[in-house]
Amino acid sequence: MTPSSAVASCLLLALSGFAVAADRHTLTIAATCMSCHGPDGRSLGEIPRLDGLSRTEFVTALRDFRSGARRATIMQRQASGYTDAEIDALGDYFATLK
Ligand code: HEC
Repeated sequence: MTPSSAVASCLLLALSGFAVAADRHTLTIAATCMSCHGPDGRSLGEIPRLDGLSRTEFVTALRDFRSGARRATIMQRQASGYTDAEIDALGDYFATLK
């Protein structure tokens, strides 16, 4: 192994060991969610908190809201504009907010 490939391998290992920080697109969408769900999803009011949900619960909820499988007052419209990739990225991000 050459020194530079050893450095590259170390970098890859280091990167795979940490959750990748959310990109600006995901953070921008998440900011709209937080206007109702509270800063970092920690709502203190009637609207459910998002910080306690697992990634699977979060992603399932959004897909079910989007398809109409789960009844909602507001969330069907909130979820309807987002792609699977955006929902997955939001799930990754919100799962870090414990
Ligand atoms: C206008 C206020 C509002 C906005 C904006 C909003 N939500 Fe919600 N959210 C709600 C309400 C109210 C509920 C309860 C279900 C319902 O009646 O729609 C809810 C429920 C949820 C749930 C289910 C929580 C649980 O415990 O089962 C998830 C997940 C969720 N929202 C995620 C999001 C995400 C992600 C966004 C941003 C894309 C978002 N919400 C934006 C109001 C909002």
